Amino acid sequence: MDTLSRCPENIVLIGFMGSGKSTVGRLLARKSGRYFLDADALIESQQGRPIPEIFTKEGEAFFRKLESESAEWMAKCVRGTVISTGGGMPLVVERLQDIGTVVYLKLPFEKILERIPPGERNGRPLFGDIERAERLYREREKVYEARAHLTVDASASAEEVAETVLSLLAQHGGRHERG
Ligand code: S3P
Repeated sequence: MDTLSRCPENIVLIGFMGSGKSTVGRLLARKSGRYFLDADALIESQQGRPIPEIFTKEGEAFFRKLESESAEWMAKCVRGTVISTGGGMPLVVERLQDIGTVVYLKLPFEKILERIPPGERNGRPLFGDIERAERLYREREKVYEARAHLTVDASASAEEVAETVLSLLAQHGGRHERG
């Protein structure tokens, strides 16, 4: 039997920093019999250093190139996985649908602020300045909507959001295009 053809499609979670992609992603993976992959952690492990250090030493453009390369690799090599992406990946990777079904976890900026308390903002290269972060959020909202097959309100608990994603995916079926 060809076991590869039985591997479920990837689910790709997109959304702004703090929208719950990793927490919801882990739950979704467990509930749907998939593995979980954090695209930021993938880059960190390949580079052997944390993202803030990559930003500081090499600059944002270098990090974006790593993101594009990791997306190409995931499209070719990863199956049966829930992938949480970094908040900027949909801006540098147009064909996220080549990786899997793309789900946007949508959360108002005010809620994002509640979820990333001031003490945790410094560990995020693009969250040092709130006004700048809000500008980024406004610019990106439209891109997230445009890139997603499904948009989900992410303001409920992670458990509820994961259940909502699963039921929407069941309705959505395997209708997404790949390649
Ligand atoms: C970024 C979000 C981060 C990380 C990097 C850049 C962004 O990931 O990829 O700091 O541009 O929004 P999370 O969304 O997982 O925090």
